[in-house]
Amino acid sequence: MLILGIESSCDETGVALVEFQENSTGDTQVWPKLLAQALHSQIALHTPYGGVVPELASRDHIQRVVPLTHSVIEKSKRSLADVDAIAFTKGPGLAGALLVGAGVACALGASLNIPVLGVHHLEGHLLSPFLSSDPPSFPFVALLVSGGHTQLMRVLGVGQYEILGESIDDAAGEAFDKSAKLLGIDYPGGKELSELAAYGNPVAYAFPRPLLHSKDLNFSFAGLKTAVLTQCKKLGDEMMRERANLAASTQAAIVEVLVKKSLKALDQTGLKCLVVAGGVGANTALRSALNTACQKAQVRVHYPEFEFCTDNGAMIAMAGAMRIQTHRELPNKDYSFEVSPRWPLDQIN
Ligand code: KG4
Ligand code: ZN
Repeated sequence: MLILGIESSCDETGVALVEFQENSTGDTQVWPKLLAQALHSQIALHTPYGGVVPELASRDHIQRVVPLTHSVIEKSKRSLADVDAIAFTKGPGLAGALLVGAGVACALGASLNIPVLGVHHLEGHLLSPFLSSDPPSFPFVALLVSGGHTQLMRVLGVGQYEILGESIDDAAGEAFDKSAKLLGIDYPGGKELSELAAYGNPVAYAFPRPLLHSKDLNFSFAGLKTAVLTQCKKLGDEMMRERANLAASTQAAIVEVLVKKSLKALDQTGLKCLVVAGGVGANTALRSALNTACQKAQVRVHYPEFEFCTDNGAMIAMAGAMRIQTHRELPNKDYSFEVSPRWPLDQIN
């Protein structure tokens, strides 16, 4: 079976093609394989505005999605006529951006007379480690850390997700990005802040770690940017010289909370496997701290390949394919579509 995936929820247009054998089931752990993918990032388009401009995002998706689809089909050495189903990101995300992917997926599905499936963007992130050569096994605890979400989940199988805890305000990626902005780093900022942090002292400034010792598995990152701002004001002209220390201390605060809460979730569930997904999962300080903590706790930890941490089409094709493979049936050929800009992951079914 060939499944085409289209991602257009925010500022990346991603298209990919994955394949699985019809007679292989989820039980045998032979998951779909990626044949080809193509990605266009809009970061350069939005950087002058300091963040994503929804209208510009939608317009750019319209221009990119068809050429990217042709490129994926060409790279995979298959033809569009070989595709058995199309998965697209139905939500959450920017309404206009989502509508572009949904519209193209449904039009293409109708013209090829094949089914179309709306996929949850966070399910795509969650299942992205299955694109790696060493995929995890169910059940596991998932730490989902993206620009818009920070959640801990108990994952029993494809489509079986229970939220254990989440951020009550800013997401971890947002905390990286907002702090980066205060240090004069362009949007999105997380990656660049972490590069700067490599030259700084993580204990130079004691930034807050809210809810670190709370019994629940919730997070709160909104206070961090205020603490960074207060420190920057205090430093005044000295701030520029202290940027690396400020970056390292900011990163250390975020990483410590993510690691402690992940271990608490593993302890509470008794599960022995942790899966990390989402853009912040590319952070090397987070990976290194989690590796150390998980080794000590005798827990296996899986990450997506670096290129699949941030938004991409491969994770959407993979999530659609894993759903079809697990349910052993194709969705209906229904080409009327809607998108869900707000859509909690535990309401996926
Ligand atoms: O998952 P993603 O691509 O988009 C959402 O679905 O939100 O995540 C993007 C987020 C941004 O906040 C970005 O700054 C952050 O992931 N990010 C990082 C790193 N790479 C991306 N944050 C910290 N360290 C990184 N290396
Ligand atoms: Zn994402």
